[in-house]
Amino acid sequence: MNRFACLLSTFLLVTFGLSAVVTQPLSPVPAVPTRPSYRLSHIRKLIEQENWKEVIRQFRGSLKNGEINDTHIEKLAKHYYKTKLGAAYIGAKNLVALGPSAALSFTTAFPIALFAEVSAEKQAKNGTAYWPEALFDRELQYDTEQKRLFIHLGTKGVAPIGEGHYKTVTRTVLYDRLKPQVMARAVTTTPLEREMKMMRQLIGSPGVIQAEGLMIHKDPRTHKKQYTVVTKLYNAGSLQNVYDKRQQKRLSFNNRLTIAHNIMTGIAAMHEKGLVHRDLGARNYFVNITCEKKTGYTVKAVVADMGRAKPITEADGGPAQGNGIYMPPEGFFPRKMKGIDYFASDIFAIGCVFWELHFGHQNPWGQHRYYRRESKGMKKNCEDHLYSMKQAREHELAKLEHSKKLTKQQKFVSIILQMTDPDPKKRGNADEIRDMLGRLVKPVKG
Ligand SMILES: Nc1ncnc2c1ncn2[C@@H]1O[C@H](COP(=O)(O)OP(=O)(O)O)[C@@H](O)[C@H]1O
Ligand SMILES: [Mg+2]
Repeated sequence: MNRFACLLSTFLLVTFGLSAVVTQPLSPVPAVPTRPSYRLSHIRKLIEQENWKEVIRQFRGSLKNGEINDTHIEKLAKHYYKTKLGAAYIGAKNLVALGPSAALSFTTAFPIALFAEVSAEKQAKNGTAYWPEALFDRELQYDTEQKRLFIHLGTKGVAPIGEGHYKTVTRTVLYDRLKPQVMARAVTTTPLEREMKMMRQLIGSPGVIQAEGLMIHKDPRTHKKQYTVVTKLYNAGSLQNVYDKRQQKRLSFNNRLTIAHNIMTGIAAMHEKGLVHRDLGARNYFVNITCEKKTGYTVKAVVADMGRAKPITEADGGPAQGNGIYMPPEGFFPRKMKGIDYFASDIFAIGCVFWELHFGHQNPWGQHRYYRRESKGMKKNCEDHLYSMKQAREHELAKLEHSKKLTKQQKFVSIILQMTDPDPKKRGNADEIRDMLGRLVKPVKG
């Protein structure tokens, strides 16, 4: 290295405090002969010495510059199939087999798989659990708690997933030699410690989004902390996405009931743990829809986005909901709200979501957005909100009263009306509502 380069790298190291792995330049293949046969014999020697770190460097460089190719690796892997190389070969093949959903070529996948097999865990234990894109052509990140390596795909050849208030959501792959999985990676610089804590508390709870990976790292360029939450990928996106794409029209009544039942199962699990969600708009439930010849559409929904979730003991006086469309009347005066009032306001917000799920349009009182109206004062806003609620609800209640025996659809409407009762005490609790819905859902024949 000449003096200038040496000074520059010292400067970078001191100024940015980057770890050895981060500052390692994108592997120029070391100065060894460049013909494939020489390169391969050099790599063979390194494999026999089990110098995996150098083997990875050699592969990264020489696959990238085309010196060696898939066939060379295949031959090497067959020869050394009992070593980590064989394992990495299988891992890489399975990454490639994910197809367009991950868009990983063998050239990119193989060094990553080898790194996953030989180094990732060790490096993570030694304090480096994030590797920037420059090293492996994709960002890599290790969750030391769950012992999992993620290959963040960003938008390289794959579409982004979504955008929330805080988070940018793109695809990632959970590395597994035999069964890698494409998942959703939400990332933000907004501190998510509390949300992550809530998600840890909810691991194992039914009907609630499950954390597959929770990681924090410092961006090597900006030095800002980045918070990453990995979850299973729900193919229909949020319930709002389902509405926007008019997909709900294709869903049967039983599909809708299933979504409602899944959601109530999730919220009952949260309430049982003493947690309130407080942001239960249609964007914060994720939905999976599959279509099979035998069963038709099958749906699964979860309660997601724990950004506003809190222990009920810490909720007093805070906002009832994040979105005015789903605001209960008592939420106009949050300073008067205490403890279990927040359970009831969660139920109300979900009732509004069920209204849209069933009737196909947003709850009429929410549409006016009285909560956001600035000119009239909160008392008048709440009066107008209540008046609009009364009208919409009475219209539906009257229809039910005229029926001698309620159909299943009418029973669902009566549950929605109970959940959106202006009086919080009459809304019922999450357990009861979940069970009422459970009695209406027809089990899907396997
Ligand atoms: N696991 C996932 N599967 C499908 N879509 C997702 C997933 N995670 C996030 N999204 C999409 O990204 C959006 C934002 O995610 P969210 O967690 O709600 O972030 P924010 O807290 O910023 O609102 C969601 O509304 C949804 O459309
Ligand atoms: Mg959200």
